[in-house]
Amino acid sequence: MEWMLTPLDILSVVPRWYVGACFGTVFFIYYLRDAVKLPTIACAPGKFRQFLEDNVPILKEKFWPTLWCFESRAQTVLASLLRSQLLPEILYRREILRLSDGGQVALDWLEDGCAPKSPIVIILPGLTGASQADYVKTLVRAANKLGLRVVVFNNRGLGGISLKTPRTYCAANCEDLSAVIHHVQTLNPNVPLAATGISMGGLILGNYLAAEELAARKKFAAAMVISVPWNVFKGSESIEKPFLNLMLNRHLCEGLCKLIEGAEELGIDVPWDMNEIRKSRTIREFDANFTVKQFGFKDVFDYYSQATLHNKLHKIAVPLLCLNAADDPFQPLDAIPVEAANNSKNIAMVITARGGHIGFLEGIMPAYQTETQYMSRLFSQYFSAVFREETGFFNLLDKAD
Ligand SMILES: *[C@@H]1O[C@H](CO)[C@@H](O)[C@H](O)[C@H]1NC(C)=O
Ligand SMILES: *[C@@H]1O[C@H](CO)[C@@H](O)[C@H](O)[C@H]1NC(C)=O
Repeated sequence: MEWMLTPLDILSVVPRWYVGACFGTVFFIYYLRDAVKLPTIACAPGKFRQFLEDNVPILKEKFWPTLWCFESRAQTVLASLLRSQLLPEILYRREILRLSDGGQVALDWLEDGCAPKSPIVIILPGLTGASQADYVKTLVRAANKLGLRVVVFNNRGLGGISLKTPRTYCAANCEDLSAVIHHVQTLNPNVPLAATGISMGGLILGNYLAAEELAARKKFAAAMVISVPWNVFKGSESIEKPFLNLMLNRHLCEGLCKLIEGAEELGIDVPWDMNEIRKSRTIREFDANFTVKQFGFKDVFDYYSQATLHNKLHKIAVPLLCLNAADDPFQPLDAIPVEAANNSKNIAMVITARGGHIGFLEGIMPAYQTETQYMSRLFSQYFSAVFREETGFFNLLDKAD
C-alpha cells in the first residue's frame, strides 16, 4: 500500500501557483454564484413601485459585496472601521433643543450650499450613534451633495452633551422625535420634510410613522429606513448567538452603559444602581435592568412587544423605502416582514443578499469610494427623485393609491 498517494502527496508535487489558482477559481465561482445578486424588491404594484422602478436605477443592478470581505460580520465591522477612518468630521451647526420635561437633545444641522427653503431630511442614528457616526456622515454628505438640508437628531445623552434628567431614550417611545419634528416644522413652515432612520433610529421612526398613521403624511413627503431590526424578538435572539454576534452585542451594551455612567456625577438624582447595570453583558440584560424600569414596562417582553415593528407595517402611510441585508446579524431574513411589504403599496423593501448590519461595502477597494457606497447611492437616487419636480412624486402622493 506504500505507493498510494494521499491528497497531501499530490499537493506536494503540483506547483503551488496551480493549487492557489484552483482555490482562487473555486472561491471566485462561489462569490459570483452566492454573493453577487440582484436585490429582492418587495412592494405591491402601484404608483410608488413604478416611481422607484423609473427613478432609482440602482435597484436594477446587482450588489457586488467586497470580494475579500463579504461575510456578514466582516461587512458590519469593516464598513464601520473604514468609514470612520476615511470620512472627516463634519462641521455641523449645533442647536440644543430643550424638552418639556427638562431634558435636552442636540440637533446638528448641515446646510452649506443649500437654498434657504430647500427640503430637510431628519436623520436618526442607531442605538448609541450620533452625528459623527460613520454611517451618518456617509448619508449626510450624500444629502448635502443633493442640496438637501440635513438635521441629525442625536438622542438624549449623545453627541457630546450630557443628560439633564434621568431619562434617556428607547425604541418604543416617540415623544422626543415628535418634539423634534414639531420644532423643525415650526422653524421651517411650508418646507418639505423627509426622514431616514438607521437601525434603532429606524425603529423609532417606524414606530412614529405607524402611530401617526395618515397624519404622518401631512408631515413627511417620504422616508427611508436602513438595517432596521424589524422583529425585535428575533433580532435580539440572533445577536445573542456566540461568538461574533455576542461580541457585537457586548460592544453595544458597553456603549449603553457609558451613556448613563456620568449622570450621577452631574448631580442628577438617578433612580438606578450603576454597579448593577454595569454587570449587563447584552442589550437584553441592559434593557431588563435599565430601560424597562425607566420607561415603566412590565418586563423585557412587554418592552420588545411595543418596540417591534414587524407587525405594524399596515399602519404606515408615508412612502417608505427600506434597505436590509439578508445576512444581517441583527435581523435574520425570516424575521423581515417581506410579505407585508409585498402587499403594501407605499412600503418598498429592498433586500441585498449580503451586506451585514449597516455594512453594504461594495467594490474591490471600498476604501476609495466610501461616498459612493451602496447605502448612500440608494439614499441619493431615492431622495433626489422624491424632490425633483419632473418625477411628479408629490402628485403621486396627492392622489392616494
Ligand atoms: C410579491 O408578490 C408577487 C405576487 O404579487 C410575487 O410574484 C413575488 O414573488 C412576491 N415577492 C416577494 C419578494 O415576496
Ligand atoms: C440584570 O443584569 C444581570 C447581569 O448583570 C442579569 O443576570 C439579570 O438577569 C438582569 N436582570 C433581569 C431582570 O433580567
